[in-house]
This record gives sequence, structure tokens and C-alpha cells, in this order.
Amino acid sequence: MKVPFLDLKVQYASIKEEITSALQQVLNNTAFAGGPFVEQFEKDFASFCQCEFAIGVGSGTDALWMALLSLGIGPGDEVITTPNTFIATAEAISFCGAKPVFVDVDEKTYNMDADLLESVISPKTKAIVPVHLFGQMADMDRIMEIARAHELYVVEDACQAHGAEYKGRRAGSIGDVGCFSFYPGKNLGAYGEAGAVVTNNAELAEKMRMFRDHGQGKKYYHLMIGWNARMDGFQGAVLSVKLKHLAAWNEARRENAQLYNRLLADVDGIITPLEAEYAKHIYHVYAIRTKNRDALKRDLSEKDIFCGIHYPIPIHLQEAYKFLGKERGSFPVAERCAEEFVSLPMFAELSQEQINSVCHEIRCFRKVTV
Ligand SMILES: Cc1ncc(COP(=O)(O)O)c(C=O)c1O
Repeated sequence: MKVPFLDLKVQYASIKEEITSALQQVLNNTAFAGGPFVEQFEKDFASFCQCEFAIGVGSGTDALWMALLSLGIGPGDEVITTPNTFIATAEAISFCGAKPVFVDVDEKTYNMDADLLESVISPKTKAIVPVHLFGQMADMDRIMEIARAHELYVVEDACQAHGAEYKGRRAGSIGDVGCFSFYPGKNLGAYGEAGAVVTNNAELAEKMRMFRDHGQGKKYYHLMIGWNARMDGFQGAVLSVKLKHLAAWNEARRENAQLYNRLLADVDGIITPLEAEYAKHIYHVYAIRTKNRDALKRDLSEKDIFCGIHYPIPIHLQEAYKFLGKERGSFPVAERCAEEFVSLPMFAELSQEQINSVCHEIRCFRKVTV
């Protein structure tokens, strides 16, 4: 049975009329850059994230970069994050002129290991960027406690965690700023590029709002040097439509994950994802671990089942970050994950038959290779 890694067409078909009407409204109003459709989405998304303010921007990368810049992070500063993330987390730190300092991840949640955090804090450390990898939040109480004790900012990379929860609190609402990506494949995906920051800090919100629009207080009055990081009107309108469905889509992903967990529970040599007892995981990615993942991925693709790898090379071993001088062995858990992760098909509309078929093929593969 053919099982795509992700099927955006089936989701689009289910909301086609709503989307067409929303896009038509943007056209009727010629509200293409920022404007009322972005503002409406910002209001809705702030409330969804249990935050006072949301500011729509061009991408998740913009969101991270702008959040760090607005907190005054710059040359000479260090910012702590994890190496098993999408490269944008580190790029945003680098583009502020600061240095990314990595800390290894917890073997069970694949998120920042709070036990190791204090060992990498130095007098130059200004902020911590926990990444809520795959849709499960990092251990925020412990991270916040350490951050406050050392007077550090916390910027949540919630780019994969729209609607994820930590002890009932939504991703993005706990740190000083939360950053989201609406890249099309995300649980809340735009029909193009988009992102957002959320915060409860009014002063910071104002600064970020100005920054994303060339530092303008009002048109052509520039109070600071900013950038063009505005969200476009079409994305605002699409995201408002899709936000109404997000809770149901997340719930469907959770049910799919539970079915995978059940069907794979007794398959030897496969580690399924763990939902921490504090967490509500929203399974942006459903990654299992296995020793011979390249062979498994190849075998599944021959059967028309398509998987992903998030991510094959941890950031400290990427060519772009070689200059940091971190050799293989520096972050053993993240490195092991990079070798063993394989992400199974995951989207809200995935059918039980498709999940059954994926698990059946994994079971067959394991029987042959064990
Ligand atoms: C963890 C993480 N951080 C940052 C980003 C960057 O977001 P964008 O692609 O919207 O710039 C992504 C997107 O894939 C991500 O997954």
C-alpha cells in the first residue's frame, strides 16, 4: 500500500472552500503585505498560545533571529541550544553575531538535557533556546529555573510544537519569547513561507513589531534599524482558516501515534517515541529509533512507504559549523539519534490501514534482519 510521508493535498481538499473564500477576501481587499488578515491571525494565534501578543513574520528563521536580536543578543554573547535540531536554530544565533553553544539531549525525550545545562553556562551566556523537538516540549520548569538563577533569557524554538503542552501550558507561553514556523509541512502550515513570535512582554512585543517592519513607529518614521520580516496577507488568511482545525488535526496525529505505539510495541529493536508525563506531544514528527535505519528506510521505500530522517547530521558535525571545533563524540546522545532515527509517515488524515501497512512492513523487515 502506498503511504506518503506527508499528504498536503488530502488536507487541502477537506478545507478547499474555506481557503478559496479566505484568499478571495485578501484579493478583494488587496491586503497583501501585513494588514487586517495578518492582524486577525495574530489575535487568534496569541490566544491559542495562551499569550498576550503574537507577531506574524516571514518564517520561523525570521522569528528566532528577530526574537534574539530584540533581546539584545549580539557579538561576544553565547546562546545555548541543542545540536539535534534543524539548522535554523543555530543560524539565528549566528546571524545575531553570537556563538551557539550546544548541550546534549535527554535519551528519552530527545530534548535539552536540563541536567547538563549548568555545565555549559559561562559569563558570556545570554540566552537558552530549548527546541521542542518533533512536537514535544522540553522540560521547561527546570530550564526556566536555571535560566532565572543565571539571569538568562529563554527563547522557545516552538517551530515544531503548535499546540504542544507542558503541564497544561502551551508551547511558546513559558519562555520570554516563543518562535513558530508555518512552513507548509508543519502541523499549522501556511501556503508559502510564514512564522510568528509570541510573548507576554508588551515592550518586547512592540520592539519585534517595529523590527519586522523596518523599525517603523509609523510610516516612514524609523525609530530603530529593522528589517522586512512581514507576514503576507494570503498567509494570514490561510493560517486563520487552518488554526480553527488545528486542535482536531493534532488530536488525530496523537491517535495515529498511539496506534503506531501499540502496533510496534513488541517489535524487537525498535524504540518508539515516549510522551513525557508532563507533556502533550503533538507529533509533528513520529520518529522511531533502530540500529539499521538506512536499510529499513530503503526497504520501506521499495514498498512505496516513504519515511524521513530528522536529522541525519547533528549541527556541530555540519560543514557550516565545523569552525566551532566540536568533534564526533562531543554530544553522544544527539549523535546516536542522528544515526538511528527514522521518521514514519505522520499526518492527521493518515488512515488506520496505512498505519497497519507501515507497521506490518517494519515487522517483516525486522524478522528478516534479526
Ligand atoms: C526546530 C526548527 N527551528 C526552526 C525552523 C525554521 O523555520 P522556517 O523553515 O519557517 O524558517 C524549523 C523549520 O523547519 C524547525 O523545525
